[in-house]
Amino acid sequence: MKVLIIGGGGREHALAYAIASSPLLTELLAAPGNPGIAQLARCLDCPDEEALFAAIKDEAVDLVVIGPEAPLVEGLADRLNAAGVAVFGPSQKAAMLEGSKAFARAFCDRHHIPQPNWQQFTNSSEAIAFIQDHPAEGHVIKADGLAAGKGVVVADTKAEAIAAITNMLDDQQFGDAGASILIEERITGVEASLFAMADGDHAIMIGTAQDYKRALDGDKGPNTGGMGAVSPAPALDAHPHLTDQVWREVVENVIHGMKAEGMPYQGFLYVGLMITQDGPKVIEFNCRFGDPEAEVILPRLETDLLSALVAATKTQLHQTALQFKPGAAVTVVMANGGYPGPITPGGVITGLTEDAISNSMVFHAGTQRSDGEIIATGGRVLVVTGWGEDQASARQTAYARVNTINWPNVYYRKDIAS
Ligand code: AMP
Ligand code: GLY
Repeated sequence: MKVLIIGGGGREHALAYAIASSPLLTELLAAPGNPGIAQLARCLDCPDEEALFAAIKDEAVDLVVIGPEAPLVEGLADRLNAAGVAVFGPSQKAAMLEGSKAFARAFCDRHHIPQPNWQQFTNSSEAIAFIQDHPAEGHVIKADGLAAGKGVVVADTKAEAIAAITNMLDDQQFGDAGASILIEERITGVEASLFAMADGDHAIMIGTAQDYKRALDGDKGPNTGGMGAVSPAPALDAHPHLTDQVWREVVENVIHGMKAEGMPYQGFLYVGLMITQDGPKVIEFNCRFGDPEAEVILPRLETDLLSALVAATKTQLHQTALQFKPGAAVTVVMANGGYPGPITPGGVITGLTEDAISNSMVFHAGTQRSDGEIIATGGRVLVVTGWGEDQASARQTAYARVNTINWPNVYYRKDIAS
């Protein structure tokens, strides 16, 4: 089979890594890919969708796997399907679970999926009045649409909540994505994520993870796309009944509910959870694999991922189960200093391949190749995963590998999984 991966970050490198070893694979392609993916796949330069469709036809691609949320929310899977191309990734309607937080919340209400109380507003005076009339402090203000992970404000005080409302609704900080907002009850507990793959009728579990969202050690500093992760998620792993409960109350209800509402969910499903005193509640859904969660989960996969992806496109996932190496994995994101704010790109990365340590893998997230050297160009640059019999040994391996790699402006958290 000829497989094309859409995307060019660390998540897509991890997907490429898992697919590359498949006995079903004849050739792996990526668009646009990155220098890490280029070691496993032939990278295609497709400046627009017309070029992409032409390449898919010329190359006679058998399966397209879409990594990031933006093309999914924009309906790329539907257009590929309409052109007769097999694709793994949700339709535009199904991707609304991530594309519109109001859609996801209303869907959860309709299907009795546990979640915080929420309310939608498009008018700032009404939203501000709601906050002022509310007896307690502590709300979460969210832009309804996609805002590159920046559209959520966890407000400690009413003043912070009101500022966020004004920024989104009046000052249009996130443009159309913030023209409608949600005000949510702020819930507390430990966060964990659960990942499934679904074929529209049925879902199978891929794994769980906990990511480290804040930029600095000790969970300080601004929110990022994720500075590291551990899998399995300690909060879920310690209590197997919790995972079963999330599966029954959330994943199965999503799959059945989406099918019943005429938008069957096929693709990766990312369930972001808060484990509260009243049980697990949904914080968010994403219509794709997590990043860096894919990099921490997929290296332990022992089953052929490509067979499962193919089964999903044929509504045959009920015949598939994924097996993982026992133990745990830990991933550390190596970023350019300053991320998630402005960064200075361009440092030459050294130590990428030398002293490669067993049970570890370096995924490229924001690199470019220039004159035979690999340059650190992104905010998140490399995602370094180690695995082992337990979290402590996985952590040791991940950091041992991190310590072999360097560039002038490198920054990473020292306390992932500690
Ligand atoms: P999201 O982009 O929806 O994942 O939100 C980013 C982060 O905001 C989450 O990982 C949580 O830490 C926090 N958050 C979102 N919604 C809530 C909520 N209702 N209560 C408490 N924290 C929340
Ligand atoms: N690591 C969070 C995300 O992929 O959205």
